[in-house]
Amino acid sequence: MKPLPGFRDLFPEDFARRSYLVGCWRETARRYGFVEFDGPTLESAELYRKKNSGGEILGQLYGFTDKGEREVALRPEVTPTLARMVAARHRDYPKPLRWFNVGTCFRYERQQRGRLREFLQFNCDLLGDSSPAADAEMVALLIDLLRSFGLTNQDFVIRLSNREAWYDFLDEHGVEKGRAGEFLNIVDKMEREPAEKTEEKLVPFGIPLAALQSFVQRAEIPSLAPLLSDLEARGLRDFVRPDLGVVRGLAYYTGVVFEAFALQGNLRAIAGGGRYDRLLADLSDGSADLPAIGFGVGDAVLLELINEVAAAKTQEESALKADAPVQIYIVIAAEEKRPAALALSQKLRSEGWRVAFPLGSERVGKQFGTAESAGATLAVVIGAEWPVVKVKRLADRHEEELAERDLLAWLQENRNLKAD
Ligand code: HAM
Repeated sequence: MKPLPGFRDLFPEDFARRSYLVGCWRETARRYGFVEFDGPTLESAELYRKKNSGGEILGQLYGFTDKGEREVALRPEVTPTLARMVAARHRDYPKPLRWFNVGTCFRYERQQRGRLREFLQFNCDLLGDSSPAADAEMVALLIDLLRSFGLTNQDFVIRLSNREAWYDFLDEHGVEKGRAGEFLNIVDKMEREPAEKTEEKLVPFGIPLAALQSFVQRAEIPSLAPLLSDLEARGLRDFVRPDLGVVRGLAYYTGVVFEAFALQGNLRAIAGGGRYDRLLADLSDGSADLPAIGFGVGDAVLLELINEVAAAKTQEESALKADAPVQIYIVIAAEEKRPAALALSQKLRSEGWRVAFPLGSERVGKQFGTAESAGATLAVVIGAEWPVVKVKRLADRHEEELAERDLLAWLQENRNLKAD
């Protein structure tokens, strides 16, 4: 019996890697003043079908009719839920809102590297401000997020674009506004499809492939100038590249859009987002008209990237080591001292240390082996000398003898051994 295709069993070592990821997500979001929220995993399918919130994601919905005859769907993304929640209660919060979420999403996608059917997504959104300063704040947050894993501008780039440039392009080619979504989907897929296929799809629009290609190759996107100079002032200009080839696959985006890509390998986008200034109004029939911008990052592709970049992998490994399941292993060298070992374990645990000891009588050598494989930094050996104990640093076998009553003070002094 295996999990379903695109679903994962997370064994403790996998879960530890993911916890590291989520820890960095939360930490970076908080550095930007963001607060965490969550919504339901199961929503009315209507939420994704409503004008503007859908796009290609509609074909990937895990949807079904529930026992109350409701058409429901597991959330494929969090943005429509966020829009619904903020539209309902935005008056209760000062603007702009800076909200983030870490949540499971489901998409019936074709499986490929970094793309699964169940994944964890990190979303950051800023609502109630339509300025380029807000755009820059979000792009900066995404850059810092990727940097928090030890990734640099040699490892990733954020491609920046603006859908408005494409609306002007369509206008020049006499394509009516109502067909923009269909057209942008062609541009979104262009890089992943053979040129003949794109050419064929363009026929109904009367736009030659060459016109599209030369538009994409334009280096300048004048509407991005304020955003770029804001990033320049923050020292982050080297992390972004204006690129009209990015339009995003979701239907609700209205202006600035962006995607983060790895510079090596052929991984799919690491993160994607943009401005969606009409989604809240659309979902609330105009009662909440709030501009918004945000992005989402998935766990799967980021974990792949960390594996590929040596500095990021080293940082991850040392973070996992510092977060070892056991910090202090109590070695019971004289079985008759077990009651003392039990009392000491409980005392250390109540002080916040992660402590383990053998549940039955075991050879001392075996106990040290267990201590090491659990990642313990220290072994405290309790033997015939009790209440004197031996404290052994496992990394270099350095050993000290201490009276039990001095142990806590000694540990306090060596506090840096304790992972937070
Ligand atoms: P998205 O581009 O569909 O945007 O997804 C954002 C990120 O989620 C992707 O770049 C990828 O890292 C991850 N992701 C998406 N699909 C999968 C999958 N099947 N398996 C693993 N990871 C995946 C959105 O979802 C927007 N709601 C983001 C947003 C927030 N826009 C504004 N605010």
